[in-house]
Amino acid sequence: MGAGVLACGGAAGTSASDAGGSRGSGDDTASASAEGATSVASSTSASASASASTSSGPTTGEPDDGTTPIPAEPQRDGDAQAGYHALLNNNYVSCGIPWTAYSQVFGAAPEALQLPGRDGKNATLPYDKTAIVTNSGVEVVTANCLQCHAGHINGQLVVGLGNSTADYTAAVGGTAALAGALLTDPDEKAELARFVARLAALEPYTQTRTIGVNPADNVAAVLFSHRDPKTFAWNDPPLLELPSPIVIPVDVPPWWWMKKKHAMFYVAAGRGDHARTMMAASTLCTDTVEEARAIDEYFPDIHAYVLGIAAPKYPFVIDAALAKTGEGIFNSTCARCHGTYGAGGSYPNLLVDVGVIGTDPVLAAGGTQFSDRYLQWFAESFYGELARLEPQDGYVAPPLDGVWASAPYFHNGAVPTVADVLASGARPKYWTRSFDSKDYDPAKLGWHYSALDHGQDGEPDAAERKKIYDTTLLGYGNGGHDFGDGLAAEQRLAVIEYLKTL
Ligand code: HEC
Ligand code: HEC
Repeated sequence: MGAGVLACGGAAGTSASDAGGSRGSGDDTASASAEGATSVASSTSASASASASTSSGPTTGEPDDGTTPIPAEPQRDGDAQAGYHALLNNNYVSCGIPWTAYSQVFGAAPEALQLPGRDGKNATLPYDKTAIVTNSGVEVVTANCLQCHAGHINGQLVVGLGNSTADYTAAVGGTAALAGALLTDPDEKAELARFVARLAALEPYTQTRTIGVNPADNVAAVLFSHRDPKTFAWNDPPLLELPSPIVIPVDVPPWWWMKKKHAMFYVAAGRGDHARTMMAASTLCTDTVEEARAIDEYFPDIHAYVLGIAAPKYPFVIDAALAKTGEGIFNSTCARCHGTYGAGGSYPNLLVDVGVIGTDPVLAAGGTQFSDRYLQWFAESFYGELARLEPQDGYVAPPLDGVWASAPYFHNGAVPTVADVLASGARPKYWTRSFDSKDYDPAKLGWHYSALDHGQDGEPDAAERKKIYDTTLLGYGNGGHDFGDGLAAEQRLAVIEYLKTL
């Protein structure tokens, strides 16, 4: 039976000409002043250069090194504990598979897949599913944020770790529709039909080429296309041109980055109120603004919970002396973009121009599914009242806390280990892995993998083909970020040892 799919409000990315910070939409200006946004002190290193400029040009008085500081903006306060409860129990995705059908197929989840703090039927559902009652009064099981934002590492479930094993290569709506055979009640049948219709609208545009990468940005684009931005009413024929069916792959980022990041998303698109942008991920079934407003009431709590998540500690042995050597190398080679760690650490919140970082440019340069029409939809909608989508022509240099756990690396998950991030010549062009979270490589820091001599086209077996990460596919490139190439092999080992401590 198919899991529900919901989007993360990341209809991001646009042409370079939009990256100058002067996105002309009057709605943007209106929402900024409605929020009463004055200047905000950055919680971390407000270095002199970190002025509130979002332009991609050089900061006055500094050489243009292709990096731009991202300014902090005011956020609504919330209660982290209430947020955890809401995340795992509340009705923010209001369609799904009727409980009557779900319960005939699935029993209680194994204990390892259950989470504490869940009410009623949720107590025995898997962590990524929630039982809710729809507006028509039918109890359904739906997918929650953890479908994408929880993952396993070393056999352990970690809430907030990006899911890097989900399979979006095939359609699931047909499987979900089979649940109809288990239902007799007309209201239940109608709810299932609504859910299956949403999946059917999404599926042609949300199939990836490989397991593990995520189509969330296209999910958002399709859902925006079918909704009136003013009323959120769903329209079966799309109201906006749909995105390209060619999905640009994205690796789900770990939630513990958000306590440091000033903008959401790889291309720094998520500006203004982050809770409001996060709740746009519930847009699969939110069919009225009234419903959205009710969800928005508690999303500052979910935001607060996300900000409180700590990166998991490295579970294996660390050579402390080697890590100390690595810290020195890191601070002179890497810290200007990734920040410093430990007591007194600071994070510079930098966007790095695509031309400087050199990683796959498609997501930032405006892949086919991204365009101004979705940005405009967002600006006109309830979401746009407090939040803005302002994609840039570059990638955020992320915090490296818990980096050991979040393989594969870069925005598209093209590189399987940190060792390969640091030696660009060693990166495999075609690689496959077991997708077993215990198949971890503590030496290279990331997944054990097999390099192959052929890509997807050379693989006759369909089941094996979708396990191949083929860096020659559009958006799947593994180039760029050559900052480790100049280090000696022992220096790279020392940096890797240091990264284990973060
Ligand atoms: C279908 C998978 C999926 C679901 C479901 C999903 N997300 Fe996401 N989320 C993503 C992906 C992929 C990104 C990165 C998108 C990008 O940067 O282009 C992301 C980004 C984010 C970010 C920004 C992280 C950062 O470092 O920039 C936050 C916060 C977030 N999601 C919260 C949520 C919340 C809260 C929910 C549930 C309401 C949710 N997401 C549901 C896939 C998902
Ligand atoms: C000029 C700025 C800059 C410098 C210097 C730099 N990085 Fe990065 N780094 C980035 C950016 C930007 C990304 C994101 C690229 C992307 O997602 O396409 C990144 C990504 C990474 C990642 C992958 C993170 C993830 O979870 O996907 C690692 C690991 C990393 N850098 C380590 C290092 C180390 C170690 C050094 C020093 C040897 C270094 N970086 C130097 C900008 C920089």
